[in-house]
Amino acid sequence: MAAPTISTLPARSVTASVWPEDFEQIPDEAWTHAPVDEFGLNYDAVGNHGWYKNLEPTIAQVVAALDVGKVLIDYSSGTGILTKRLLEKIDHEVGILNVDASPKFLRVALENFKDDERVAFRLLPYLKDQKRLRTVDEVIGQPMIDRGADILTATNAIHLYYDLPETLESWARVLKPGALALICSANMRNPNRHKGDWIIDETVAAVNEIAVDLVRREPAFAQYREALDDADRMAAYTQVREKVFVPVRDLAYYTDSFADAGFSVLHVTEATIFARVDEWSDLLCTYHEGVLSWVGGTERIDGRPPSVRAMLDRKFLIRASLERLFPGQDAFPATWTYLTCRH
Ligand SMILES: C[S@@+](CC[C@H](N)C(=O)[O-])C[C@H]1O[C@@H](n2cnc3c(N)ncnc32)[C@H](O)[C@@H]1O
Repeated sequence: MAAPTISTLPARSVTASVWPEDFEQIPDEAWTHAPVDEFGLNYDAVGNHGWYKNLEPTIAQVVAALDVGKVLIDYSSGTGILTKRLLEKIDHEVGILNVDASPKFLRVALENFKDDERVAFRLLPYLKDQKRLRTVDEVIGQPMIDRGADILTATNAIHLYYDLPETLESWARVLKPGALALICSANMRNPNRHKGDWIIDETVAAVNEIAVDLVRREPAFAQYREALDDADRMAAYTQVREKVFVPVRDLAYYTDSFADAGFSVLHVTEATIFARVDEWSDLLCTYHEGVLSWVGGTERIDGRPPSVRAMLDRKFLIRASLERLFPGQDAFPATWTYLTCRH
């Protein structure tokens, strides 16, 4: 009998679910029953922004490595923007476990993928008494830990981990030996970044300074000047900003932390990606409280939420300040850094 040609080979068999027995893809937790939140939907729309081409190198790596039957943990998956792009490219049986600290974002991911057998979800709840998030090994269950994940991705998020060493140690506990960890972030101080490129979140401090100047000069914003003259309150507002847009750490801090957690850093690359000013404005407006909380105040600091007027003024000031930061420019360049690590 002649050897089968490619076209006569049987179609790739779709195996039974890759998930271990007793693994709940959708846990019965309060967040899974909550209504879909507007803030989460707004972030999901950010996936359509041009600068989200930052995911392409990671997608190429995953598509090459995530064979039939393999499981990927997308850590800090947000609303599932990476999952969506991967599922458009992968039609064989795999598992993609979306893990995130935000119930609002994860709820959007659940809405998007609840009917796809290949996708599962886990929330990392915040433990108030211990002042920490639950770790991934604390939420995926023993059968999944015993199985081990084949790949872990963390896109546009690692710079937010206040407890990086502990987080990387938790990854090591859920990955198979030899598994890949694929990371990207535009917020590492990478000595190889191209001259003139921005570290993307550093635009936020620049926007803040321009907004301070506008409020001091423009009579329409006079009501917000009182906050500017109160150093203690301004320090508290700066803390709010730095919780959302955390101070940038050196690339070496990340590579050293991976090595300390038992990973080999196989390679580090970088790419310049242009972010459109109007799209970056949209993102900063989604996070307006983190950017300019001193305009109108915040519940936590002032005991009352900002007025609708103040929220509109924040968004106006964000847009006006970005236009002044990038006069006459449609876009600005930023460096994304990519780390490929092996467990
Ligand atoms: C900018 S979003 C990126 C989402 C997604 N990976 C993407 O590329 O679209 C950052 C995500 O990190 C999550 N996050 C923030 N701090 C975290 C932490 N300490 N541990 C785990 N996830 C965190 C947020 O909930 C959010 O979903």
